[in-house]
Parts: sequence; structure tokens; C-alpha cells
Amino acid sequence: MSSSSNHDHPLIPLSHLGDLSVTEFLSDYWQKKPVCIRNGVAFQEALIAVDELAGLALEPEVESRLIENKGDVKDWQVIHGPLVEADFNKERDFPWTLLVQGVDCFVPQVHDFLAKFRFVPSWRLDDIMISYATQGAGVGAHFDRYDVFLIQGEGQRQWQIGQACSENSALMAHDQLCLLQNFDVHQEFILNPGDLLYIPPLIAHKGVAMSDACVTYSVGFRSPSYGDVLASFADERSTDISADLRLKDQGFASKSGEISAMDIAALMQFMQAQITPENVAQWFGKHSTEAKYPALDMSEEAMDQAELEAIIKDGYGVLRVSEGVRLAYTWQGDGGLTLFVQGEALPCPPDATVFIEAIANQWVLEVEDIVPLLAHDAAKAMLLILHNQGYLYFADE
Ligand code: SIN
Ligand code: CO
Repeated sequence: MSSSSNHDHPLIPLSHLGDLSVTEFLSDYWQKKPVCIRNGVAFQEALIAVDELAGLALEPEVESRLIENKGDVKDWQVIHGPLVEADFNKERDFPWTLLVQGVDCFVPQVHDFLAKFRFVPSWRLDDIMISYATQGAGVGAHFDRYDVFLIQGEGQRQWQIGQACSENSALMAHDQLCLLQNFDVHQEFILNPGDLLYIPPLIAHKGVAMSDACVTYSVGFRSPSYGDVLASFADERSTDISADLRLKDQGFASKSGEISAMDIAALMQFMQAQITPENVAQWFGKHSTEAKYPALDMSEEAMDQAELEAIIKDGYGVLRVSEGVRLAYTWQGDGGLTLFVQGEALPCPPDATVFIEAIANQWVLEVEDIVPLLAHDAAKAMLLILHNQGYLYFADE
């Protein structure tokens, strides 16, 4: 498989996709046009064994689907997870695809693979979905509203890329799948293991497995819709505003049936006053780090300061961000740093900022390197809070 000039450590973001530098990729293709990059991402071996992927689909906390291409497209069958053993043991006469969402939340190697895509800010990463398909299987022509990298893991897949779509694009009558009625093929590629296809939001695409055991890794990104931005910001602000505060009369319009321009102006003034850099940053930090699966139990065995000191003294292993944990930080106007993790805001004491920045940017720190970052008790206290909530953990490597 490709060995582009990427660094050795698995958590260092890629500098190249195949022969293309990430800088060129971002300026020429990202959010602009699709591109197929041969040997786009190097990996030594499959990110997950097929058995393990199927095993995940049996777990109640894992989001999965099995799509069977039975007969006409409108009759394609979708079974939603959790699946049962019988779903896999069944002899199927038709091609089928198993799709497992958020695999990075459960499998460390897959989380590490996602980490390579942090040449885009980490709050933009959504998840890695992994599909397993039999020959001839596909999920049909569709579009996604987010950027996606489709990386061939095993076997071969043909991808066709079509037109730009919108909410007005006609969909087939299917109650579970959003499939396009019209698909104009503009480009076609056959992907082999390691090849990568980037597809910007709203671009139609259709994949068909050309071999059995066709495994595709989809790296998906999140970007809030403007509708969500307004709703979620308003929601966050509303929890901060006392119910005692009410709109004050601004003088009345001469006609009783009229809402006056003064009333509208007063409402606008109140709303505009909510839009401060602090309010927007506070809301967005929480919103953009919300857990994909809030119900997942992250709990890690609690550690006290003495145990932490012993680990640091040993100087062995690494401190890692837990699988599925989202964290990001902002600098406030007063120079303070706020860490956002799983939708929570944690104001960071000044003596802990160097440590917080390091873990939020690198996602892994060698224990021997964290000693200077933890010189102050405030930094150790932050580490203990994050560790004991299960957001960080110590591992051998
Ligand atoms: C697949 O892996 O089969 C589907 C991925 C996608 O089209 O988004
Ligand atoms: Co898609």
C-alpha cells in the first residue's frame, strides 16, 4: 500500500493524500469538487476484521443497517440494527451491504485513522462509517449533505459521481432510503485498497461492490445547518435568561390591530444584544463537541492524585483522548481558555492551559513528555477531572 510522506505516529494528521499535498487538496478540491486519489491513504492492514464489524452490529449501542438489493430499487430491504446472528447466517440470494456507523467510537485503530484527517479542525470530524458488501451490492444513488472521504479498505468498488443535488432533487418512493430518481453519471472510478475518493456536500454518488468482501471506510464531517445554528443558539441563550425579563411596552401604535415598528425594533435590539463573541463561542463550543452517542458509558476507573503522580513518575506509556470523545477549546476576550468536551464547557485555570492545548491538539501525549505540562497542580486537577469522566485514559502505546 502507499507510503506517502506521512509521519510515523498514527495520530499525526496527514500531510499528503497520495501524491497530493493536503495544502493543494484543501485549496483545489475541499468543498469544491470531487477527486479520486490513488493510494490516497496508507494503512498497513485492515482497520477492523469483518467478524468484529459484524459483532459491533449486534451491539445495542451501535448504529447499523443491513441493506439488501432485493428486486426493484423501491423494494430494497433495510434492516436496522441491532442485528441478530440470524441476519448474518441467513443465505441471501441478493447482494447486500452491512453499514456500521461511528466505528471510531468503539475501535482504537479506527479512532486513530480518523485522527489522521485533522488537517480539518477536529470539531468538523463526525465519524467513520464502515461498510461491508457482497459483489454487486450498493446503497444506491444518493447525496449526503456533508463532505466525505470514501476509502477502499478491502476488495474493489466502482464509484460513479453525478450531478449537484438540492432539497428539490426528486427522490424515489422508498420509506427508508433517500435514493435519487435521476442520476447523471459524470465520472466513474474503480477503487482498490488504499484509494480515496473525496465527495463534497450535495454531490450525487453511487457505489457498487465489484468483489465480495468489499469494505469501504467513510470519513464523514459535520457542519451544522443554519437552521440548527439559529435553533440551538436560541435554545442555549434561553436557559441563561430569567423568565422575569419580558418585552417592555415601547409606546403604542395608533391603531390597536397593528404591531408597531417600535415593538419590532425593541425585539431586534434584545436579540442582537445576545450575539456577542462570548455568547457565540460558549454556545458553539458546546454544540460542536456534543457527543455523537450521548448515552455511551465513558466511565473510567477513578484515579486520585497519588496514582497520577505514580504514573508520571514511571514515565511509561501514553495519555490518549478516549474513542468517540470530542474536545475543542476557545480563547475568550479576557485571555482565558475554555475547554469544551462532549457538549460541556470547562473554564480552564491559567496554569492548566498549556496541558489542555497540548491534549486537545495532539490527542495523544507521551507520559514522559507530560511532566513539564503538569508542573502546576491546576493542570493535574484538570487531567484528573477529564480522566475520571472517561474523556482521557492512559495506555501502553
Ligand atoms: C457505502 O459505503 O456503501 C456507502 C457510503 C456512501 O455512499 O456514503
Ligand atoms: Co454517500
